[in-house]
Amino acid sequence: MRAVEIAKGVYNVGVIDWNIRDFHGYSTEKGSTYNAFLIVDEKVVLIDTVKKGFEDQLLDNISRIIDPKKIDIMISNHTEMDHSGSLPKIMHYIGEEKPLYCSKMGLKNLAQHFKQQWNYHGVENGEELNIGSRTLTFLETRMLHWPDSMFTYCKEDKILFSSDAFGQHYAGYEMFDDVVGHTIMSHAKKYFANILMLYAPKILKLIEHVGEIGLDIEMICPDHGIIWRKDPGKIIEAYAQWSRQIPEKKAIVVYDTMWHSTQKMAEAISAGISAEGVSARPIHIRSSHRSDIMTEVLDAKAIVVGSPTLNNNLFPTVSDILTYMKGLKPKNKIGAAFGSYGWSGESVKLISAELEAMKFDMIEPGMKIQYVPDSDGLASCMEFGRQIGRAVNRQ
Ligand code: FEO
Repeated sequence: MRAVEIAKGVYNVGVIDWNIRDFHGYSTEKGSTYNAFLIVDEKVVLIDTVKKGFEDQLLDNISRIIDPKKIDIMISNHTEMDHSGSLPKIMHYIGEEKPLYCSKMGLKNLAQHFKQQWNYHGVENGEELNIGSRTLTFLETRMLHWPDSMFTYCKEDKILFSSDAFGQHYAGYEMFDDVVGHTIMSHAKKYFANILMLYAPKILKLIEHVGEIGLDIEMICPDHGIIWRKDPGKIIEAYAQWSRQIPEKKAIVVYDTMWHSTQKMAEAISAGISAEGVSARPIHIRSSHRSDIMTEVLDAKAIVVGSPTLNNNLFPTVSDILTYMKGLKPKNKIGAAFGSYGWSGESVKLISAELEAMKFDMIEPGMKIQYVPDSDGLASCMEFGRQIGRAVNRQ
């Protein structure tokens, strides 16, 4: 339960989801928040709602400031259900005739999703809405990260209501960057790696555009996690850096194993990479969450993937991480494949095909070992790792 004034007449009335641990396949070990923002001016405006199931908390939070029935305008920056799930109840409560502002794609998506005839106002990019002493500007941010996504900017308060962008899955009573401290950056990085990495070129263009139009930003209010009020430039610069995808001198060796042979290979390859002065780490897939692996992928130069051959195919968890990785479109990577096998040994070829499809620069040939690697086999893995390490050092 909270309603916190973040600027004069502007409140965060969102809710904390302490217990969510799986956000559509993304591990949220610190829970999350669904932020929603109330602006009390001549017109009373609510920006975004919260996930279905939290609507009573949202109404309660608003009630601490004003009777929710006095809300004049609803703004939906994004259709995804963690922000729109409470719309039916909120619209019913405040009055179905109240205007609902959203992007043109938002209008289409909300109408298709909820099958409700709300009083939609599909806005143009740059359109303004006067609410009394303030003017709100709508900025289309298509595909960041849905077709309907938009920002709402308040020039008088210099606040950017940024929807999912600049968010973090982090539940806490700390509501601001200066309260939570630098630890929040690891959550922001994970969020970027798992939700926004594939849109990196668009993010760079957006940041450029924001600079060109001279948007003066003193506070960024995302829909998840903390609000950036002390140093909003810090998260903008971090987004620019992550979007450029300039990797560090780092390799990750991601693998699964049936009877520890591929594990032995992974550890020997990692040691070989490390012997070339490159940071390296074996990551056992079933001991790590795919969303944490993707966070490691973001700034790694070499992605080395290993799998035993199972029924002429990849081990299923290896297919899982490759599929997930491919969708997030990491760039500027070196790829390499390895694996142990009993008789047919297709895994290395299959991994290589996946990494090539991601346009990685491949270290060929991959490393295959039949049955258990002996000391010569481990020495070969070590040398394979050194080869990868030297390739990282060259770039
Ligand atoms: Fe937080 Fe795209 O929803």
